Formats: sequence, structure tokens, C-alpha cells
Amino acid sequence: MTTIGILISGRGSNMLAILDAIEEGQIPARVGCVISNVPDAAGLAAAQARGIDAIALDHRGLTREAHDRRMHAALVERDVDLVCLAGYMRLLSPYFIRSYPNRILNIHPSLLPAFPGLAAQRQALDYGVKVTGCTVHVVDEELDHGPIVLQRTVDVLDDDTEASLSARILVEEHAAYPEAVRLFASGLVRVDGRSVVRVDASAAG
Ligand code: GRF
Repeated sequence: MTTIGILISGRGSNMLAILDAIEEGQIPARVGCVISNVPDAAGLAAAQARGIDAIALDHRGLTREAHDRRMHAALVERDVDLVCLAGYMRLLSPYFIRSYPNRILNIHPSLLPAFPGLAAQRQALDYGVKVTGCTVHVVDEELDHGPIVLQRTVDVLDDDTEASLSARILVEEHAAYPEAVRLFASGLVRVDGRSVVRVDASAAG
């Protein structure tokens, strides 16, 4: 069975959506641990309250790679074989990304490749797009760039604020992320160049 490690920095609502889906039996996986680089992140306490091994690994005072090596050691110790970034607000080092090739997922609140980086919802409003959404993608060494697992769309309304748009995107995130994790944990997809494609069940085995 797949063992998932979830990395967070904040409130952890996507983390909770994944935990809920696992508890409901929708994802054949267990969560080995949740790690936060922000020790007082609300999501860390929420994970702990759910009985999850919740680890604070403060990045301050460490180089990026030194911090990532600590996270990697904690994940390996718990047999994690799929890493989910859920509002993890730091870039990962090449060391970390190469340690889990095609086994790190991220969620981003826009339809990538539009609006990568911070404040994606604000960027969408400022640009005036009529449709935005969220993207779950495989993490590679470029920011918000790796192969796309799935996307969900959200209409932008004339009177949307950053808060109202973010809230509607978040609803879609909470559906998209568990579904993407299910596809990976179940071995139903594989990465083929820039594409994430369905595994042909008839060809397997
Ligand atoms: C989400 O909007 C996610 O797409 C982005 O950061 C936010 C995290 O929210 N990467 P939460 O911590 O999962 O509630």
C-alpha cells in the first residue's frame, strides 16, 4: 500500500481533504506523516488531532538542502513513497526532487501554465481571465511546471474579489487533490514525458 507524506506550511485544508478521502476508503493509502516547515501552522495541529504523526521541521537557520535532507530522512524513516505538497510554501531543492522522481504532487490555484507562483488568484483577476481553476501536477525542478495530473475550472465573476474567487477555487481543490492522489496511489496513471496518462490495464502484467 502507498504511504503518503504531506508537506504543509499553513492551514492545511487540502491536507484534510486528502485525509478525509483516505478515511472514507477512496484512496488505497496511509499517511506516514505530515511535515510543516512552519512550527505553528494550523494544519500541523489539525493533523495531530487526527492521530497523524505531525512533525515540525523549521527551515529557519538551515540551507534549503540541509532542511530538505531532514525532511527526506523523516519521510524515508516512515517508508513514504508518495509526497503531497499541500500549501507547502517553499521551493524544494534538486536533492529532494531527485529523491522522489515523479512521486511528488503539488496543487496550484490556477490553470497552469497560467499564473504560476504566488497569489495566482490575484494574478487571474488582474489579467481579466473569465475562467481559472486549479491544477494538480507532478513536481519537477521548475516552479509550478511539472506534468499535469488533472485540472478543474472555475468561472470568474464580474464582482469577484480575491477572497471570493479563492474560496470557489478551494472547493475545486478539495475535489481535485484527493482524486489525483487516488490515481497515483492506485497505480492508475504514469508519467510519459510532459503528460500524465492512464495506465493501460490490459497491458499491465
Ligand atoms: C491552496 O490554495 C493551494 O492551492 C496553494 O496554497 C493553498 C493552501 O491551502 N498551493 P491549504 O493550506 O491547503 O488550506
